[in-house]
Amino acid sequence: MRTLVIGTGGREHALARALSLDPAVTEVHAAPGNPGIAAVATLHDVDPMSGPSVADLAVSLGVDLVVVGPEAPLVAGVADAVRERGIAVFGPSRAAARLEGSKAFANGVMEVAGVPTAGSHTCTTAAEVAAALDDFGAPYVVKDDALAAGKGVVVTRDRAEAVAHAAACDRVVIEEFLDGPEVSVFAICDGATAYALQPAQDFKRIFDGGRGPNTGGMGSYTPLTWAQPDLSEVVLERVVRPTLAEMSARGIPFVGCLYVGLALTASGPRVIEFNVRFGDPDIQPVLAVLDSPLGELLLAAAQGRLAEVPAPVFRDAAAVTVVLASAGYPESSSKGDVITGADLAGAREGVDVIHAGTALADGDLVTAGGRVLAVRALGTDVADARATAYAAADLVSFPGLQRREDIASEPLGVVEGASLR
Ligand code: AMP
Ligand code: GLY
Repeated sequence: MRTLVIGTGGREHALARALSLDPAVTEVHAAPGNPGIAAVATLHDVDPMSGPSVADLAVSLGVDLVVVGPEAPLVAGVADAVRERGIAVFGPSRAAARLEGSKAFANGVMEVAGVPTAGSHTCTTAAEVAAALDDFGAPYVVKDDALAAGKGVVVTRDRAEAVAHAAACDRVVIEEFLDGPEVSVFAICDGATAYALQPAQDFKRIFDGGRGPNTGGMGSYTPLTWAQPDLSEVVLERVVRPTLAEMSARGIPFVGCLYVGLALTASGPRVIEFNVRFGDPDIQPVLAVLDSPLGELLLAAAQGRLAEVPAPVFRDAAAVTVVLASAGYPESSSKGDVITGADLAGAREGVDVIHAGTALADGDLVTAGGRVLAVRALGTDVADARATAYAAADLVSFPGLQRREDIASEPLGVVEGASLR
């Protein structure tokens, strides 16, 4: 099987690496990729946002499967362009990608499908905003109704801050605050059938203890030993299957990864958000412990025959990912800072250095984004994987490097999302 991964970040590096380990996968290509992905795939300099360019590349390479990594190309219809050329693609159509592209659309689908989520109001005027803030009370949750890469959301007790964020958005969704640890469940969907991957936890805030602004994610781990053992099954039953049924009823079947961000509240799991692609870095540890061939799974989903392949199985092991971010992140980022030690870290037993935002400049590996590298380690349990990940991360340096010291630290499950600090 020949495969092509579209995108340029840590998610795409982890996907390309996992595909390369599938014995049925003979070729892995990536566009545009990054210096880390180049070690496991052949790179092609193609604009990931251009459907025709991506489709032309897929045809010229004769690939059997295209995996579109990030949300922006999906929302722009890149999967449709590839599918129109008769090539299997793992990733939703432009219409189905609205589950992530519009919070108001996602909330509408969840309402009809009876999916447990936060109460919400979609507002376009200051008066509507004020009424919605009064209705739910503090802490206030204010979301821009447009893609903002996890950064269009403000959660605050400060009413003035909530009002200011709402005023800066065209259309805004104000939500009830969901109190409880946050988890990520990734469902592989073929439109009708879904398999859930093992749940993971992502650490979203920039600073230790879950403080500071939201980021794209500063680290992650799996398994969640503290969570209910049937969590994946509960999420399939209460969230994923009703959502797939409602999407099909609307004539827009969902094919790809439905990423369910959940709060485990006192009244059970409730959806915080849907995304239409794998989460990064949350997917990284999950792929490290996946014991099933990834290519076979994604191809079956793309071809609408998921029920014909076995459900994914996971190793009795743990994995932890620690993100190394550049100076200024998440408000800004720093490009061109020289990175040292990445090779040393990656040479350690059980460690992968995943490239998120890197580039080569005059033979040096340099920073090229907010999240730069992710150090991922396997271990016998979470504590073991964590120790290995941090020991390897200690070998990497660049000016202004930022990382959290409490990824996957004890007590597990408590820090992230437990309450608003
Ligand atoms: P989102 O982009 O929707 O994932 O939101 C980013 C982050 O804001 C989430 O990971 C949560 O930590 C927080 N958040 C979003 N919605 C809610 C909510 N309704 N209740 C509590 N926290 C939320
Ligand atoms: N880790 C959060 C995201 O991918 O949106």
